[in-house]
Amino acid sequence: MNRRIIFLLFILAVPLTAFAKTPVPFNAAKVCGSCHQDHYDNWKKSLHALSYNNPIFQAAYQKAYAETEGGAARICLPCHAPTTRITGDYAAKEEITREGITCDFCHSVADVKNGVFVLKTGDVKHSALKESAPKEHGTAYSEAFATARLCSGCHDFTNRLGTKVGNTYDEWNKSQYMMSGVHCQNCHMAEMPGRSAKENGRDSIHDHSLAHSMEKMLGAVRVETKEPVRMNDAVLADVLLTNEGAGHAIPTGTPARTLVLEVHALDAAGNVVEVKKKLYRKRIMNDKGEEMLTDGDAFLYGKKISSDNRLLPGESRVETFRFGVRPRDIVKIVAEAYLTYQPVVITKTEMKIPLYSTTTEMK
Ligand code: HEC
Ligand code: HEC
Ligand code: HEC
Ligand code: HEC
Ligand code: HEC
Repeated sequence: MNRRIIFLLFILAVPLTAFAKTPVPFNAAKVCGSCHQDHYDNWKKSLHALSYNNPIFQAAYQKAYAETEGGAARICLPCHAPTTRITGDYAAKEEITREGITCDFCHSVADVKNGVFVLKTGDVKHSALKESAPKEHGTAYSEAFATARLCSGCHDFTNRLGTKVGNTYDEWNKSQYMMSGVHCQNCHMAEMPGRSAKENGRDSIHDHSLAHSMEKMLGAVRVETKEPVRMNDAVLADVLLTNEGAGHAIPTGTPARTLVLEVHALDAAGNVVEVKKKLYRKRIMNDKGEEMLTDGDAFLYGKKISSDNRLLPGESRVETFRFGVRPRDIVKIVAEAYLTYQPVVITKTEMKIPLYSTTTEMK
């Protein structure tokens, strides 16, 4: 072969793309981040970036792994480290596996059909953009990116025993939000200022941190107290609780979350006379009728949903609380809503996320 032909072959062999050839058909988030810095910085803050590495998942996974003699890898990782769906790296030896729900997994999704991902890996990145055609890499339009379908592949889980453990997508799909075309992305991936790419980019991006901000949470639930009624032996307080801002039940997803409505009756000095609570949650039992309190246990052994009183999207409920201790002294009712979450970590902890608080003075 003469030199000229060798030279030509060499040129043809250079891929027309920004990507390095890696042993697995996915590029690291850092590679994408070298041009999409703002997306990278946002994603890095999200729970998607921590879906494999976070200690709460790891604790649950290690337990599930031990109890199933390794079987849990093929159960849990398709969602928590989804590149395994293609690479088969269930031992999590590759860095890309430990990146969790990484850029190149989502942007390789060509479609989602009945909750099943249709993946096309390679140099073409999928998105909801129709017009743009950057020179840096190939792009393709995928309708799933503009709709809740993209999220349905993971945020709707029915376990091996047929129990609907966490069904955020299903809850949304039956709601007014679906009817009016408000998808997960509208609330969790809103448009925000940012560079869509270092060169040849635009001045707005979609928020990849999942907007799981305090601000969003605080708008989710509304609590109103009606004028309490004073009886001879008690004070009756009606409290109105509304799921105002979530496109699914509150709480949604993992069954280890509980919504708490807590109402305090106070005396004139501001001392608490009596406290009442009401809990909203989905209770999941195993085949022996024991309650499964953690995500991992619910996922592996959940056999039956024994009750579910969570607040559906848009739903309002009036709850009546009866305060029978020193009713004559009560002058004020304070009601607050918050979420609690009990993850399995080394020490038993409880997280409390405040949502709403309101105070009513009595005449
Ligand atoms: C060498 C720079 C570069 C690298 C590396 C890069 N991109 Fe891009 N990408 C661009 C540019 C430029 C655009 C066009 C931006 C625009 O139109 O706002 C773009 C657009 C996109 C789009 C939107 C589709 C469209 O039609 O505009 C997606 C999705 C995307 N890239 C995903 C990725 C992912 C995932 C990776 C990593 C696997 C990646 N990119 C790596 C430069 C790059
Ligand atoms: C959970 C799946 C998911 C992950 C992970 C993900 N993206 Fe996206 N990305 C989306 C969706 C959905 C959109 C479109 C949002 C819309 O149009 O409402 C999008 C849009 C984009 C766009 C087009 C411009 C824009 O902001 O609309 C770029 C570029 C992009 N993503 C790059 C990245 C990069 C880089 C990473 C990793 C650092 C990443 N994405 C991780 C789902 C994902
Ligand atoms: C490949 C699977 C997968 C896809 C696709 C996916 N998610 Fe997730 N998502 C997860 C997992 C797993 C977690 C939990 C991560 C953790 O906490 O360990 C999560 C966490 C979240 C959280 C944070 C929950 C919290 O507790 O704070 C939100 C919000 C979320 N996802 C929204 C979305 C939206 C919106 C989409 C679609 C655009 C989407 N996800 C697509 C798997 C996925
Ligand atoms: C109308 C806006 C809206 C829509 C649509 C919406 N969400 Fe949410 N989402 C919220 C709000 C507000 C919260 C915070 C309240 C809460 O935590 O329950 C939330 C919380 C979550 C959480 C975390 C649960 C928790 O308690 O920390 C996940 C996961 C989630 N959403 C996923 C999704 C997915 C997947 C979709 C689409 C199927 C979706 N959301 C649609 C507003 C929305
Ligand atoms: C069908 C997809 C899917 C499968 C399979 C799955 N998960 Fe998850 N997991 C999720 C999603 C989505 C979330 C986030 C839900 C939410 O926050 O509402 C989550 C959340 C969790 C959390 C809470 C993480 C945190 O940071 O708070 C733990 C722990 C967990 N999963 C453990 C497991 C274990 C262990 C397995 C295997 C036995 C498993 N999951 C299988 C989708 C899945």
